[in-house]
Amino acid sequence: MSENANSLWGSRFDGGPADSLAALSRSVHFDWRLAKYDIAGTRAHIRALHVAGYLTVAEVEKLDRDLLELLRRVEDGSFQAKVTDEDVHSALERGLIEITGVELGGKVRAGRSRNDQIATLIRTYLLDQANAIAQLVIQLIEVLVNRAEEHLGVAMPGRTHFQHAQPVLLSHHLLAHAWPLVRDLERLNDWTKRASLSPYGAGALAGNTLGLDPSLVARELGLAGPTQNSIDATASRDVVAEFAFIASLIGINLSRFSEEIIIWASAEFDYIKLSDSYSTGSSIMPQKKNPDIAELARGKSGRLIGDLTGLLVTLKGLPLAYNRDLQEDKEPVFDMVDTLLVLLPAFNGMVATMQFNKNRLEALAPAGFSLATDIAEWLVKKKIPFRDAHEITGKMVAFCEQHGLELHEVADADMAAISQHLTPDVRDVLTVGGSIKARAGAGGTALPRVLEQIAALRKIAPKREA
Ligand code: ARG
Repeated sequence: MSENANSLWGSRFDGGPADSLAALSRSVHFDWRLAKYDIAGTRAHIRALHVAGYLTVAEVEKLDRDLLELLRRVEDGSFQAKVTDEDVHSALERGLIEITGVELGGKVRAGRSRNDQIATLIRTYLLDQANAIAQLVIQLIEVLVNRAEEHLGVAMPGRTHFQHAQPVLLSHHLLAHAWPLVRDLERLNDWTKRASLSPYGAGALAGNTLGLDPSLVARELGLAGPTQNSIDATASRDVVAEFAFIASLIGINLSRFSEEIIIWASAEFDYIKLSDSYSTGSSIMPQKKNPDIAELARGKSGRLIGDLTGLLVTLKGLPLAYNRDLQEDKEPVFDMVDTLLVLLPAFNGMVATMQFNKNRLEALAPAGFSLATDIAEWLVKKKIPFRDAHEITGKMVAFCEQHGLELHEVADADMAAISQHLTPDVRDVLTVGGSIKARAGAGGTALPRVLEQIAALRKIAPKREA
């Protein structure tokens, strides 16, 4: 049996908890990262205690100074959690009492519970992290827009089912990876509304009796206001789960792009060359240059989905209100934050520095009869029903396959034999440039539409000076 010296709840127990229980119960090795948020919460709480008449001006001022001293000691490492501290809250109460003395330090816990405390801290922590992640996502959008702008006018094969479909601008394709990230930013912004409410004042579950002002605490913490229901405030973690969903979606968006980067860097594709600084070698094969960042992004998206899934499963069977299961909400999102904060800088660097093989992209753009749709639509403009136009074009493709020709190489007489509607001027639309230019409808790949996208994206991710 251990002592119970640092516990916040020992008095009604005979002796301390079994070592095995203490080991199972302990969260300080991972929730210690919330220390500065816990201290911020306590600084707000003592103000509420003061306004409600439980601390004098002198007391609140002394406590505030001592809390700042505690924060300094936490930051420089001179105060650390011990294995005997159950969690970050217990450790910091011990730390405050060491500085302030037990009489004053012992007053601070009045009117709050670790249940409302932790529900608040996870929000303030995630709000900060969401902001850091959003900055990196904005940087990636900026990099994509920069790359798109550098390669205006370069055509490449557009694919569906991974088969050549229609030529598109490389810029259009790159920007197609920017827009999902814009939506991720919008999701984070919208999530912020729900995350920015303070559960402080909810107590263990039913509220507090001391007349503490939860709006004051929310204001002090920079949050929009208090939560509306104390049971919901302490028992719900949908705000955490929503963050986890958005974080995993960011991971999935990086992973989709990664899959392309890995393929593009292969000898068979040869669309891109990765910078030496953002690729790795093999310990046995001297010639190798590997797209490890993209592979790790793809791999880590699996890990992010695992974190989200684990969290959702933890939440699914919980009766109201607080249950200790909720302690399991933190490690998954901590892992997600750490994963994205280490992944995004490397990913951004890789995208910023990869070189596009312009000649190869342009040479492959018309391959695989990717201009066939242009023939069909040329026929439609001549008032041929699309059903017939599709069939005529299909016959032309079959003819080319049989004779080893490209679409523009079919002789006038052979075209006429396929259909009387196929006159020689159809060749006007059989160029990559013409095909791309014609796709000028909203959101299309034509250059003016791509320039519009760039202008819109620059408002979200302005170009920074190098
Ligand atoms: N470590 C706990 C958690 O993360 C803090 C709340 C503890 N509350 C309690 N009643 N034991 O959820």
